[in-house]
Amino acid sequence: MNQPVIIVHGGAWHIPSPLREAHREGCRRAALTGWDVLAAGGAALDAVEAAVRVLEDDPTYDAGRGSHCNLQGEVELDALIMDGRTLELGSVAAVKRVRHPITLARRIMESGEHAFVVGAGAEAWAEALGVPLCDPADLLAPSPAVAGDDWTPPGMRLPADTVGAVALDLAGNLAVGTSTGGTPNKRPGRVGDTPLVGCGAYADNATGAAAATGWGERLMRLVLSKSACELLAQGEAPQAVAERLIRQLEQRVAGYGGLIIVDRQGRVGLAHNTPHLSFAIVRPGPEVLAGIEFPTAESETHRPSPAS
Ligand code: GLY
Repeated sequence: MNQPVIIVHGGAWHIPSPLREAHREGCRRAALTGWDVLAAGGAALDAVEAAVRVLEDDPTYDAGRGSHCNLQGEVELDALIMDGRTLELGSVAAVKRVRHPITLARRIMESGEHAFVVGAGAEAWAEALGVPLCDPADLLAPSPAVAGDDWTPPGMRLPADTVGAVALDLAGNLAVGTSTGGTPNKRPGRVGDTPLVGCGAYADNATGAAAATGWGERLMRLVLSKSACELLAQGEAPQAVAERLIRQLEQRVAGYGGLIIVDRQGRVGLAHNTPHLSFAIVRPGPEVLAGIEFPTAESETHRPSPAS
């Protein structure tokens, strides 16, 4: 019997002080929602969907309601879900009328017909799959994100506070889910790493599950989440993998972001080179760890100062 575990994150960037408590608490709430599923013997896939839905409902985060707008003042949402048991996945991008893109991604996965569907086509299919459409105005909420931000690496559009969840269930199945509104003031049609399999997320029962967050244009160059699973397959521990890949992100492509990992034994890894990454981890007990920084020697070493 496995020990279940869930990790959620609410994005890697510089979280202004007035927003930190909301970020911590939102992650804690989402992780505990996913934990309730796992503790009842439920599937990792159900747990990550439930956790991501909580984050999509919370306007604190750049996912679902409260997402950043594009240059035309519209919200365009991306999401991905992957089942480590079968390697099936569902993904959506640039949808404007879906309150819970993670659920649409799941229905697409379960349809077995397509894996990645975008824009108006995804919205047209949503209703047939039992995912209600919403008024685009329902997704607009005052975005607290940029106020007070004093940390912007050269070329990076901040914040890119995607949400994500990885989980291992009692049966030993792994799953991952991600959801985002993308970067603020993005060009209409721009899609980042979040819905791209292997980049924003990957899950494989043989190795582990990983979810990335941060500057999508740079993250996708390293196919970060699939790379994490490959390093796990070589026997590296999740924390070492997370730190190694975040170091590579910075050194190889001048990228910034974060990575959460759970391996098939339930060991966790979490690293970021942004000042903050809001997260929560829940293990049996339930033992809950929630915060906005993951204090490892490596991530401290490679984190730029807020003024840099
Ligand atoms: N990582 C989210 C994005 O760049 O869209």
